[in-house]
Amino acid sequence: MTRSKSVEAFKRGLNVFPDGTTRITIERDPYPIYAARGEGAALFDVDGRRFLDLHGNFTALINGHAFAPVVEAVTRQLRDGTCFANPTEAEIALAALICGRIPGVERLRFVNSGTEAVMFAVKAARAMTGRPAIAKIEGAYHGGYDWVEVSQTSASTNWGPPHAPANTSYYRGMPERVLDDVVTLRFNDAEGAAALIEQHADRLAAVLLDPMPSRAGLIEPTPAFVTAIQQTAARHGVLVIADEVLNLRQSYHGASARIGLKPDIVALGKIIGGGFPIGAIGGLADIMDVFSKKPGGPLVPQGGTFSANPVSMVAGRAGMEALTPAVFDRLAAAGDTVRSGLRQSISRHGLSFSVTGAASLLRVHAKAVAPLDYRDAVETPAERAAISRYVNHFIEAGLLVPASGMICLSTPMTEEDLQLIIETFDAYAALEAQQAT
Ligand SMILES: Cc1ncc(COP(=O)(O)O)c(C=O)c1O
Repeated sequence: MTRSKSVEAFKRGLNVFPDGTTRITIERDPYPIYAARGEGAALFDVDGRRFLDLHGNFTALINGHAFAPVVEAVTRQLRDGTCFANPTEAEIALAALICGRIPGVERLRFVNSGTEAVMFAVKAARAMTGRPAIAKIEGAYHGGYDWVEVSQTSASTNWGPPHAPANTSYYRGMPERVLDDVVTLRFNDAEGAAALIEQHADRLAAVLLDPMPSRAGLIEPTPAFVTAIQQTAARHGVLVIADEVLNLRQSYHGASARIGLKPDIVALGKIIGGGFPIGAIGGLADIMDVFSKKPGGPLVPQGGTFSANPVSMVAGRAGMEALTPAVFDRLAAAGDTVRSGLRQSISRHGLSFSVTGAASLLRVHAKAVAPLDYRDAVETPAERAAISRYVNHFIEAGLLVPASGMICLSTPMTEEDLQLIIETFDAYAALEAQQAT
C-alpha cells in the first residue's frame, strides 16, 4: 500500500507535535494514515486511497462524512457568524430535540466535548449530594477528567482481587487524593458492585456507568447488573450518571432506555454535534438546577467560550433530525447482519474468536468465549497479535478499523458495504485458520 504522502506528512508532524500528532489515540503502524477528505461512508487518504470508514471518528460520524443537511446548515451559519457571547435560537432548537427524545432529560447544558460533559456531570452529582467520591467501572473510558481516569488501564499485575478492584492511577503523579475518592467496580459483577456501593455509600456522589464501555470490551450489561446498580444507588441516595457520549447511538432514545436504566444525569457528546465539537449534560429539572443562577448562586458554575456555539448547534440539529426511529432500527439491523456474518465465519473456520457489541457497534475478540467484563477482555500478547493481523488485513483491503478491532457502522453504508465487511473478515478468517494448521 502506498503511503508516501502520509509518511512525508508524519515527518513534518514530528517537527511540531510530541510523537507527531495531536491525539494519543491516533494510530500509527508505523505511520498514521493522513486523511484528505471524507464523503459518506468513504474516507480518502492523502495518497489517494479510498477506505470504507469503519471508525467514524471514534463513532461520532453516525451520518458519515460531509452529510449534506449538515453541510448546508453549517454553510449558512458560517456566513452569519460562528460564536457569540449571546445565546442563540439554534441552541434552543437542538436542546428541545434532545429533551424530546432522551427519557429523563428535561433540561440540559451544552459544552464542547464528552470529557467536559462527564466532568460537569460528576461535579453536579457532588453538588447535589454534598459527597466527593464516584464509583466507576474498571477499564472504562470517560475522557480526561482525573477522577474518571482512575483504573482505566488496570492490569493483572495491579488490579487487585475480583471482589475489591484496586484503584490504579492513569499517569505518573496523579494525586493520591484522586484515587481516594474513587471506588472501582467490575462490570457485570452485580453482587460485588452492590456491596461496594453499599460499603462506600456515605461518601459516594454517583455511580458513573457507560452502558457498553468500548475500551472495557464493548460488552452489554446483564439485566442483573443494571438492576443492582440502580437499586443500590437509589437506596443510598447515590446518583446514577449514564455516560452516553458514545452509546447514545444505540437507539432513538439512547442506550439507557434500551437496557432499562433510569439515570439521574446523562452525559452526551459525539453524534449530537453532527460532526462538530460538542458535549451536553442533561437530567431532570430539579437536578439540573445545580447549574442555575437562582438565589444563592449556582452550585456548579459552568461556562465555556465555545459552549453552544451555533455551528455545532445547527450541525447537531441537522444530523439528529435525520436520525429517525426507522433509521436507528436500520442501523441496528445492519449491526445484527454484520455480527451474525462474522460469527458464522468464525464458526465455519473454527477460529477461537468472539464478537461483542450492540446496535451499530461491534468488536471482534481473539477469544473463544465472549468476555463478560474488562478483566476477561484484556488481551494476551497472542490475542493482541491476532487482532492486529485482522486489523491490518482490513486496512490492506481498504476498510479502516481502529487497532482495538471495533467496527462502527454509519447510515450511508449500503448492503454491499455490509457484505464487504463480512467477506473481508471471512478472507482473514480463512488465512488465520490456515496458519493455525
Ligand atoms: C464513553 C465516553 N465518554 C467520554 C468520552 C470523551 O469524549 P470526548 O473525546 O469528546 O472528550 C468518550 C470519547 O471517546 C467516550 O467514549
